[in-house]
Amino acid sequence: MQLDALIDGLPKAELHMHIEGSLEPAMMLALARRNGIDLPWADVESIQAAYRFRNLQDFLDLYYQGMNVLRTPEDFYDLTAAYLARARADGVRHVELFFDPQGHTSRGVPFDHVIEGLWQALTEAERDHGLSSHLILCFLRHLSEDDAFETLKEAEPYRDRFIGVGLDSSELGHPPTKFARVFARARDMGLKLCAHAGEEGPPDYVREALDVLGIDRLDHGNRAMEAPDLINRLAADGICLTVCPLSNLRLCVTDRLEDSPVAAMLEQGLRVTVNSDDPAYFGGGINDNLRAVARVLPLSADQVITLSRNSFLGSFLPEAEQTRHLAEIDRIAANLG
Ligand code: ADE
Ligand code: ZN
Repeated sequence: MQLDALIDGLPKAELHMHIEGSLEPAMMLALARRNGIDLPWADVESIQAAYRFRNLQDFLDLYYQGMNVLRTPEDFYDLTAAYLARARADGVRHVELFFDPQGHTSRGVPFDHVIEGLWQALTEAERDHGLSSHLILCFLRHLSEDDAFETLKEAEPYRDRFIGVGLDSSELGHPPTKFARVFARARDMGLKLCAHAGEEGPPDYVREALDVLGIDRLDHGNRAMEAPDLINRLAADGICLTVCPLSNLRLCVTDRLEDSPVAAMLEQGLRVTVNSDDPAYFGGGINDNLRAVARVLPLSADQVITLSRNSFLGSFLPEAEQTRHLAEIDRIAANLG
């Protein structure tokens, strides 16, 4: 079987996708029109032309500008429903979506507008298509820990609608330690813990995320590959890493797609997964990412199957659900001969 066909056919979980980063240019224009918002771009082509990033901050500046068109529960519903339709077409069976409430509440959009819109789309996808999901509330690390605490408090009435917290936005200069207390509080609330670390930040940020925050899953983690002690530890503890190859390329985390750490991580026995991060900004969804790395690294069919297995093993699904998805992957693998 061709690798592309295998990638298309495998069930998979997407574990690193920011819902605001799935805002395609056409929808950005449509929502701007619907909400009477002026954008500095007149058409899809001029929006896409602006997507040239030298680093993470270049991207974040546009990302926050783009999300300004999201105002009403209907906007958040439309955004999420559109992403879920694309994910389903890619064979995604389960998603764990990041959302950035501070990116909205700081603009006067109420927290409940965000969560209600997301929730309605997620509930419908599960009911109508069996596509399961969890939400992960991210704290913006360029803001203060007090701000993160306030956000967590605001989210408390909706505690049963999100499974965990994450840490994203500008990494350099905002080490995980800055959020030690709010992560401890989240753990006390029974929430799962994720953090972006080692995307641009040094291996020490990965160490802090593990030692100080006590994360259950590591987002990106590229620069952990610079530190043999971290590689050994991540492998021994079975920590899942959510790597995003097209994002890494577009944000100059890697110079070339061939430099993606996915193959090296697999070879070192790390529980690595492939994800899209912000598909509207980085040129594709989960299958585009998988196809791209499979072609250039290159990856074997067995390695592609391992990535698909890792996506469920690294998810926050209950074990019985993981087992059900893994059995389907095993059937596909057995048929490859
Ligand atoms: N927010 C959205 N995408 C992000 C990324 N790749 N890194 C940090 N924060 C983000
Ligand atoms: Zn991310």
